[in-house]
Amino acid sequence: MPEKPSSQRYLVCVAWPYASGDRHLGHVAGAYLPPDIYARYQRLRGNEVRMVSGSDTHGTPVMLRAQEEGVTPQEIVARYHGRFVESFKALGLSFDLFTHTDTQNHWDTVQELFLNHLDNGYIYKDKQLQPYCLIDEQYLADRFVEGTCPHCGYEHARGDQCDNCGSPLDPIELIHPRCKICGQDKIEFRETEHFFFDLGKASPALAEWLNEDKEHWRTHVINYARQQAESGELRGRAVTRDIDWGINVPVEGYEDKVIYVWYDAVIGYLSATREVMLLEGAPEAWKDWWFDRDVKSVYFIGKDNIPFHAIFWPAMLIADGRGMNLPYDVPANAYLNIEDKKISTSRRWTIDLPDFLSRYDPDPLRYALTINAPETRDVNFTWEEFLRRNNEELVATWGNLVNRTVGFAYKRFEGKIPQPGEFDEVDRALLKESEEAFERVGAEIDAVRLKIALSKAMELAHSANRYLNEKAPWSQIKTDPAAAATTIYVTLQVIDRLKVLLHPFLPFTTQELHGFLGYDDDLFGELSIDEVEDARGVHKALRYDGSGVNVRWEPGTLPPGQALRKPHALYKKLDPSIVDEERARLEERLGVTG
Ligand code: MF3
Ligand code: ZN
Repeated sequence: MPEKPSSQRYLVCVAWPYASGDRHLGHVAGAYLPPDIYARYQRLRGNEVRMVSGSDTHGTPVMLRAQEEGVTPQEIVARYHGRFVESFKALGLSFDLFTHTDTQNHWDTVQELFLNHLDNGYIYKDKQLQPYCLIDEQYLADRFVEGTCPHCGYEHARGDQCDNCGSPLDPIELIHPRCKICGQDKIEFRETEHFFFDLGKASPALAEWLNEDKEHWRTHVINYARQQAESGELRGRAVTRDIDWGINVPVEGYEDKVIYVWYDAVIGYLSATREVMLLEGAPEAWKDWWFDRDVKSVYFIGKDNIPFHAIFWPAMLIADGRGMNLPYDVPANAYLNIEDKKISTSRRWTIDLPDFLSRYDPDPLRYALTINAPETRDVNFTWEEFLRRNNEELVATWGNLVNRTVGFAYKRFEGKIPQPGEFDEVDRALLKESEEAFERVGAEIDAVRLKIALSKAMELAHSANRYLNEKAPWSQIKTDPAAAATTIYVTLQVIDRLKVLLHPFLPFTTQELHGFLGYDDDLFGELSIDEVEDARGVHKALRYDGSGVNVRWEPGTLPPGQALRKPHALYKKLDPSIVDEERARLEERLGVTG
């Protein structure tokens, strides 16, 4: 029997978005698109992948939004979770499961971990001063308090985190705290009892793990994490709150407190793995994904989430004591600015994903956000650049290569892949380049350098265009039809390979191309939105049906004689007028609240 090809398992973990507002292009570039590219590539390699995430339904962002609109938090969750699954599907994000945190499975998983931490002495009770608003006569959750950051002096730091310097905060640390409900500063800190997670106790093990080989980590992530773990400043953090929206504390006498949203949300990676395995009919299989050491878990997040994924979550896994896998990598991204300004949802300087997709196709967005990805520094999205990348790179370079080649074969070679003659050096050089591209592009994706990976794939499209111009099959056909056949054959092979190389980045248009090239099957498979029921009710789940991967990350060969389909343009040329239109749209929204 032939040996089974060894396949690596990847648990692709994606930040859980608060179900309190649409995702914008910054979120997409920072946390949502990169894991999909990575996961699609690993699946094409024949590796086993589960990509999981879901809506973060708890916490004050959801409560604030509900209060502003005078509706229940559940209504807010249903609305935005629904919008997430729809827009993520439209963008082609191949989640094996995108669920949410208000499921019975998630509640059970969180409470189980909480009790383990308590048993293992990592969670203890203590008194804490908590902000209480004398005007509204209630305790204030973290995000209901705003004040000056003690670390950087930013005046609008929230009670949970400073948006300016990224430091996680406790409300008590804020200088001149104000209540976000009434806007006043009549805040008193009253003593209440809470449960604390002992980060200090976990820090020696944390430091040891962080000092193991982390060559593959991004420098800013590993430096931050090591500095934190070795600072001696990690200590207890309250992981319960006196609010009524969240997962109940599973300890008698404390049922009216809820578990802190960050503690709850990061456990989603574990609970979603359980849910996906349950849906696949293998309720125990999640253990393989969390205990087998050969599974690589990779966490895709924006840089504001680094403390929670490089410190807090690993510490929680350590404290659990069962030996679950710590993150293999946390390739956090920097920010995306829009038209030279920082994105701000409150000031409405933002482009929301559903809004974008209502006017433009998904692949051009995926392209633009990847070719200029915020991997090592903040980047700028401008409509002018979007227009240029779409028209010059997708339409003129790649789309045009496909169109003129498939179109030519369709017209001049009876709609079939022609039989080639003998290859010359130029033919062989291009074929060789296309073979080697798999290794070159793949190595970059493996290292989560997606921007360079995409540009390396595009280099091959450029080479193919140069080859075609040099060979000029439209002239060859008049004097030497056999040579023209060879040229078209070679170019079609390269296009077929580019189809695979570009698939992780451009899933929709490469699927179309797969059809032009005469294939009837799916290149990759389907995404669906299912309704899943458990003891807490019915939730929508975005799910990728992994059955459809019919190509491999390797240079294939199109058989001569295979019938092609009549091609149409893969990409639409955009009119330059969209730049002014879109800028005006941004300006109009600016400062308009609602
Ligand atoms: N809800 C958080 C946000 O939108 C991210 C949470 S990621 C998690 O910023 F893994 F911790 F859930
Ligand atoms: Zn700060």
